[in-house]
Amino acid sequence: MNTLTVDLGDRSYPIRIGSGLMASPALFEPAILGRQVMIVTNETVAPFYLERLKHILTRYQVDTTILDDGEAFKNLKSFDLIMDHLLTQHHSRGTTLIALGGGVVGDLTGFAAACYQRGVNFIQVPTTLLSMVDSSVGGKTGVNHRMGKNMIGAFYQPKAVIIDTDTLKTLPAREMAAGMAEVIKYGLIRDAGFLEWIEANLEAVMSLDPVALVHVIETSCRCKANVVSEDEREQDVRAILNLGHTFGHAIEAYCNYKDWLHGEAVAVGMLMAADLSSRLGWIDREAVERLSLLLSRCDLPVRPPLSMKPEDFMNYMALDKKVVEGAIRLVLLRAVGRAVVTADYPAAVLQATLAHFTTH
Ligand code: NAD
Ligand code: GLY
Repeated sequence: MNTLTVDLGDRSYPIRIGSGLMASPALFEPAILGRQVMIVTNETVAPFYLERLKHILTRYQVDTTILDDGEAFKNLKSFDLIMDHLLTQHHSRGTTLIALGGGVVGDLTGFAAACYQRGVNFIQVPTTLLSMVDSSVGGKTGVNHRMGKNMIGAFYQPKAVIIDTDTLKTLPAREMAAGMAEVIKYGLIRDAGFLEWIEANLEAVMSLDPVALVHVIETSCRCKANVVSEDEREQDVRAILNLGHTFGHAIEAYCNYKDWLHGEAVAVGMLMAADLSSRLGWIDREAVERLSLLLSRCDLPVRPPLSMKPEDFMNYMALDKKVVEGAIRLVLLRAVGRAVVTADYPAAVLQATLAHFTTH
């Protein structure tokens, strides 16, 4: 097992990574504060892993909330269901919530933990690659509103993140690829050497080689943990974690959050950000081609939906959380392995990138 720390003073917490961790009560017990536990999961993940987790928690009152599966259920109705279960099972302020699932379950459970009786303990047990390398770490929690994704939420850190890499064995290949987009992101924003490692070891990662998997998850989590430790509330550097997300969110919103997975939209978004960076002369064309090839090798898309036009991108990008006084701030690449957040680029260059990706 490998352990990292998210360094946030007295709210610091461990990220534990390894095979078979869900069989180890000793990993969970230090992070469970009282005698009560509420496991929140969904109808897809529960049949695979719920009993396995319950089996090691025999010392506690364990209750469960099983949600419907999907982004559409990351809403206040599911939140309300968790509250109902906590109250009807008489969970006190000493309870511990455990999120067992992907980013949807993790974001929802974290938000429920932040709100129940003004804040109770919680543990993340992520089961998708995306949630292992991104959403379970860093304390962004929340739900969607019909008028916008992640519009209701809180920064609220877990007590521990426990990553059992064995759970990836049941993850569909398309979800695995979507997680790889966020992994590649870390190489692009902060670690050119890691990007080279991914290029050399992609097949091992995709075939779930245990050593390669732990390396990829650990390196990604270390990058995220460092950024979060530097800027927990995204006043500054944390925004670089959104490389490709401004273009990507435009794709997701244009598709009504259907058909495209988040990681797929981020993949195209990162390529568009790289294209724009190369038009500014910051990285060379070869780096853009290299990224395109790597995304394709992961079976990730490299073009937005065929029907999308530059004005569609502009309309949705104007709603991005990073827009300040009307200026669309983008995460761009000063170099491969060095991201910056800037609104200081000629509008014509953004238009050239949008035209390039929407001309067929
Ligand atoms: P997800 O939670 O919807 O999971 C993807 C699918 O895989 C679901 O159908 C799920 O039931 C299934 N699944 C999960 N684990 C499985 C397993 N081990 N075996 C088989 N099937 C499994 O999606 P996701 O990609 O994990 O997360 C996306 C969510 O994360 C979005 O809501 C996004 O907003 C959020 N997110 C949050 C942050 C953050 O910092 N909090 C960062 C990135 C993304
Ligand atoms: N996924 C972006 C962040 O955690 O800030």
